[in-house]
Amino acid sequence: MFGPPSFLKAFLAFLTILSACESLTTTILEPIRSTGNEVGLIFIPGTSVKSYQYNETARVIQESTELRVWVALTGDYRHDEVYTDQLSFAIEDAISELKKAGMTSELYAGVGHGWGGYYLQEYAQSSNKKLKALVLMGSATSRTTSLRDFPIPVLTLAAELDGVTRITRIAVEYEKLTHNTTGFLKGLYRTPVIYIEGANHAQFASGGLNSHIKLVDLKANVTEEDAHREIGKYFNAFLTVTFSSDDSKIDEALNQLTDAFLKSVKKFQPFLDVRNLDTDGEESMWTLLAQEYFADEYGDRVAVSNEILENPWFYSTGPSISFNDDNMIIKTIALIHAKEQSYDPHWAMGMESPHEIDMKLIPKDAIWKALGKQRDTILKSEPNTCRSLNQLAVILALSASTEKARERYLSQGRPIILENDTNKFYFMWVPSPLDMWENESGLHVSAISLINDQYHYCKVMSPYRAMEWINVDSLRDYKFGLLDKK
Ligand SMILES: *[C@@H]1O[C@H](CO)[C@@H](O)[C@H](O)[C@H]1NC(C)=O
Ligand SMILES: *[C@@H]1O[C@H](CO)[C@@H](O)[C@H](O)[C@H]1NC(C)=O
Ligand SMILES: *[C@@H]1O[C@H](CO)[C@@H](O)[C@H](O)[C@H]1NC(C)=O
Ligand SMILES: *[C@@H]1O[C@H](CO)[C@@H](O)[C@H](O)[C@H]1NC(C)=O
Ligand SMILES: *[C@@H]1O[C@H](CO)[C@@H](O)[C@H](O)[C@H]1NC(C)=O
Repeated sequence: MFGPPSFLKAFLAFLTILSACESLTTTILEPIRSTGNEVGLIFIPGTSVKSYQYNETARVIQESTELRVWVALTGDYRHDEVYTDQLSFAIEDAISELKKAGMTSELYAGVGHGWGGYYLQEYAQSSNKKLKALVLMGSATSRTTSLRDFPIPVLTLAAELDGVTRITRIAVEYEKLTHNTTGFLKGLYRTPVIYIEGANHAQFASGGLNSHIKLVDLKANVTEEDAHREIGKYFNAFLTVTFSSDDSKIDEALNQLTDAFLKSVKKFQPFLDVRNLDTDGEESMWTLLAQEYFADEYGDRVAVSNEILENPWFYSTGPSISFNDDNMIIKTIALIHAKEQSYDPHWAMGMESPHEIDMKLIPKDAIWKALGKQRDTILKSEPNTCRSLNQLAVILALSASTEKARERYLSQGRPIILENDTNKFYFMWVPSPLDMWENESGLHVSAISLINDQYHYCKVMSPYRAMEWINVDSLRDYKFGLLDKK
C-alpha cells in the first residue's frame, strides 16, 4: 500500500484541527442573578451574524427567567458561517470558558440560529451528551429526525415572517409533534414548536443581517424589542420545565407552553390542512374538489373518486364515468409534481409545496350527456376554465391564512395574477409544465388545458403553493424571489 506515511497523516490531521479552531472565539456573559439553578446557554450564530449580535437576545433571556443563566457567545467562524468541523471545537471552548468564568453546574443548552442550528442539531444527535437541551431559532431538526426520539429536549422557535427558514418548513416540525397522539403531552413540553407572530429571521439577533441572507428575509411586523420579549418568555418556559427545581415555577411554565401550543395550532394546522388537499398519499382531495366544481349543479348526483398516478401510467390513463345502479361515478386521475426535499440546510429555503398538480377531469357537458334521461333539460353551458380552478386554489389559500397574513398579502404582497389558460393538444399537453413566472407585478400563472367533449385536462396550481406564496414569497422583492424553477 502506498500513500502518505502515517506520521504525515497525523501531522495533516493536526493542521486541520489547528485551522478549524484557530480563529474561534467565545464571549461570556455572566449571570445577572446570584441564585437559581445554573444553566449555560451556548450560542451558535446564523450565517454572517456576529457573536455580539446575540448579546441583547441573551440579556433579555437572562432577565426573563429566575434561573441563573450563563451565556457563551461563540463566533469568528471561517467565512462567518458555522460548519460541522468547527462546531465541536466551538462547544468545547465555550464549556471550558464557562467553567473558567465560574459556572459550576454541567447543564449546558445549545442555542442555534438559522443554518447554525441545522448543524447544531446534527451535533446534538451524535455528540457525547455534553448538551442537555437545544433551542433552535429559525431553524429545525432534519426532516427525517423524529422529535419524539431526539436524545435531548428541543425547543423550536419559529418566526412568522422568517424568509430564511420559512414557516411552512417549521410546519413540518409541528406535524412531528402532533401526528402521534401517544405521549403527545410529553412532546408538547419536551420538544415544543412555537411561533412568534410578526417576527422575522433577523430578530432572533439584533442589528439586522448582512449580505445575501438579509435579502431573503421578510419585513418584520413587530419591533426587535417585542420579538426579544417573546423569545425571552419562551426560553424561560422551556428552560424552567427542563432544568428548574422549583415546582411552582415549573407549573407556571407548563401552562405557558400549553398556551403557546394552542397558538401554534391556529397558525400551523391550516398549512398542513391545505397541504393535505394536494395529496394525502392515496387521493388528491384538491382534484376531487376540482371535479365537483366542474360538475357544478350535477355535483350532488355524482360520486367522485381519484387516483394519483406517476408517469407513464398517468399518461396512458384517462378519467372515466361509470354507473352503479343509477348513481354516476366519476373517476379522476392526478399527477403531483413535488420536488425531492433537500437535506442540505443551504437549500432548506426552497418552497415546501408541489410545483403543479395535473388533473384529468370530466367536463360538465359530458356529465350532462351521460346522465341521459335523468338530466334536466337545461341549455348547455360554457365549460369552466382551468383558470377558474387556480382561482379556487387562491381563495382556499386565502381563507386558510390568518386574518393578519391575508391583510398583509392584500396590502403589501405581490399578487397572484391568473392568466388565461394555454390550450394544447394531448401530445403537447403532456410535456408542457404549468406556466408560472414571477416578476415585479407578481406571480403569473397560466394553466395548461385540454378540453374536448369527453375530457377536461388541467395543469394547475396547488392550493398549498398559493398559500406559501401568500404567506412568504409574495412579501419579498422580486429579484430575490426564490420560486424554484423547473
Ligand atoms: C452588545 O454588543 C454591542 C456591540 O459590541 C454593544 O454596543 C452593546 O452595548 C452590547 N449589549 C449588551 C446588552 O451587552
Ligand atoms: C406513537 O408513539 C408510541 C410511543 O413512542 C409508539 O409506540 C407508537 O408506535 C407510535 N405510533 C405511530 C403510529 O407512530
Ligand atoms: C405592522 O403592520 C401594520 C399593518 O401593515 C402596520 O400598521 C404596523 O405599523 C406594523 N407594525 C410594525 C411594528 O411594523
Ligand atoms: C382572456 O380570456 C378572456 C375571456 O375569454 C378574453 O376576453 C380576454 O381577451 C383574454 N385575455 C387575453 C390576454 O388573451
Ligand atoms: C410582468 O409580466 C407580465 C406578463 O409576462 C407583463 O405584462 C408585465 O408588464 C410585467 N411587469 C413588469 C413590472 O415587468
